[in-house]
Amino acid sequence: MLRAAADPLVVDLGYGAGPVTVLDLQRWLRRVRPDVRVVGLEIDPARVETARARTRHLPAPPEFAHGGFELSVPGGGSPVLVRAFNVLRQYPEAEVAAAWDLLRSRMAPGGLLVDGTCDEIGRRASWIAVDAGRGPLSLTVSVRLGGLQRPSDVAERLPKALIHRNVPGEGVHAWLQALDAAWARAAPLGTFGARQRWLATCREVAGDFPLLDSPARWRLGEVTVAWAAVAPAGGALSAG
Ligand SMILES: C[S@@+](CC[C@H](N)C(=O)[O-])C[C@H]1O[C@@H](n2cnc3c(N)ncnc32)[C@H](O)[C@@H]1O
Repeated sequence: MLRAAADPLVVDLGYGAGPVTVLDLQRWLRRVRPDVRVVGLEIDPARVETARARTRHLPAPPEFAHGGFELSVPGGGSPVLVRAFNVLRQYPEAEVAAAWDLLRSRMAPGGLLVDGTCDEIGRRASWIAVDAGRGPLSLTVSVRLGGLQRPSDVAERLPKALIHRNVPGEGVHAWLQALDAAWARAAPLGTFGARQRWLATCREVAGDFPLLDSPARWRLGEVTVAWAAVAPAGGALSAG
């Protein structure tokens, strides 16, 4: 998607106290698209000043600007990719749909929003991929396999759209339960390492859930399931 984009504009929305994730994103995405333009947007103006001051010395620093869900980047443009990590978790669940709608309306056609949450050091993460045109596509769980007790350890790091839905009767609850059960059954494979155990877990749940990825991603401690399987009951956040 980024390779094919007419305007390779990417936004790290709500990047936080320092420029770290914006720099990281720029570094990785340049490998795919050397002319990528990465902009960090923050609703807190003091954080914009801090990020600018800390990156001024760099040869080609990312841009930083004051902004929010309306995605107003300096000079205009519609981002093809928006990363918003640990941002919507600060908002009430009832505001997620409107925030997604506003973000989607400002993104390039075919663009993707990554609405995610993680723990402080990124060992437990999850994110929802939201297509600008079609709405939510998938939920990805991504964990550091070493030291993982059970897949549902990620429950407390679910995005706001799902974190209150980890209760019986909801798809995301059934998903995490299925992962835990498969993980328990795959325990003997732990002898060969947590990665083999995770691969077996993913292979097993693939029989019952619409997975959208393959062993190449599972090997990294990830697994991605189609949104339809985990969307909150009631339909407020169904695919568009
Ligand atoms: C918990 S920090 C997350 C920082 C970083 N993204 C991370 O994952 O470590 C949340 C940040 O989002 C910013 N924020 C909250 N609402 C925002 C909005 N509507 N638009 C842009 N930034 C926002 C806050 O100012 C804060 O810096």
